[in-house]
Amino acid sequence: EKAGYEHFMMKEIQEQPKAVQDTLNSVIHENKIDLAEVGLEEEQIRDVSQIYIVACGSAYHVGVAAQYVIEDLARIPVRVELASEFRYRKPILDPNGLVIIISQSGETADSLAALREAKSKGIRTLAIVNVVGSSIAREADNVFYTLAGPEISVATTKAYSTQLIAAYCLAVQFALVREEITEEYYTELITEMQTLPDKIRKVLDDKERIQWFAAKQANARDIFFIGRGLDYAISLEGSLKMKEISYIHSEAYAAGELKHGTISLLEDNTLVIGVLTQSDLYEKTLSNMVECKSRGAYLCAVTSYGNYSIEDTADFVTYIPKTDTHFATSLAVIPLQLMGYYVSVSKGLDVDKPRNLAKSVTVE
Ligand code: F6R
Repeated sequence: EKAGYEHFMMKEIQEQPKAVQDTLNSVIHENKIDLAEVGLEEEQIRDVSQIYIVACGSAYHVGVAAQYVIEDLARIPVRVELASEFRYRKPILDPNGLVIIISQSGETADSLAALREAKSKGIRTLAIVNVVGSSIAREADNVFYTLAGPEISVATTKAYSTQLIAAYCLAVQFALVREEITEEYYTELITEMQTLPDKIRKVLDDKERIQWFAAKQANARDIFFIGRGLDYAISLEGSLKMKEISYIHSEAYAAGELKHGTISLLEDNTLVIGVLTQSDLYEKTLSNMVECKSRGAYLCAVTSYGNYSIEDTADFVTYIPKTDTHFATSLAVIPLQLMGYYVSVSKGLDVDKPRNLAKSVTVE
């Protein structure tokens, strides 16, 4: 049951430190990632020439983040695709490719069909799944179980967070096996990953401030989320969380793409939420925020402690603890989940069961 919480979604948001910890513990032993349970041999990891990540909704957004992390650390080319598109476009698959299907339920019809499509072509399939014994888990060659526990709220939170962890572990282990990173950096990355549960807890401690901010956005008509690189991946998820439970139209944009169209939608007081966790892209996104401000936008920023120059531009700032840039998604997504949640609550909506949506989409 809801264990004293008003909604499953808040309960599940609060369960994220534990879900992330459990998932880390399941594969990290003595400060090394152990993929024995997943069943991937080192030789197979060395042979992969192309990765395809296929999923729907939030799981697809994990794929977008995973693409950046895997390509950057393991230097393996990654394509991310929506399952509903992948299956109908007669995909041309590299025989040494690895298809990774990400799914909380393990029953999403399009993701299952994509898995079958890959298998029929003889391509190795690896599923990142939460529900044990689900169709996708049963049919995939390899399974990485996320240990989020049962997720009831239609809007995913803790499953998303554990899927990210699975993606990081694959990226870091692939990077080591393929000798793309040093042993020292490998150990550093694993040590840093293990600090994430506490850092997520720290972000959750700030929830009253976010609640206060979110309550003021209940009448917004449109909200834009912007970011570059991994911050774009977080923006996609922040935007989906917002729109699906608050019914406010929102869009995620790669910050550099704004001036190719979307910027014409900005009016006085349109809320723009900028995500700036990637230090090498900070100044670039900041200048895009300045452009939004000069068009009258009301600015909220999610950035790391230390980036205090943001306060000259943004009207409201939420800080997240510092971490290795590859893992910042795990922290920056938390305030965005909370914003969606509190906007929905302040509008009196059915947070756990938004209209027209189902928890598991078993039709195409
Ligand atoms: C959004 C959400 C959905 C799911 C999507 C895939 O909050 O929950 O977008 O992520 O329907 O579902 P699974 O992961 O079960 O395949």
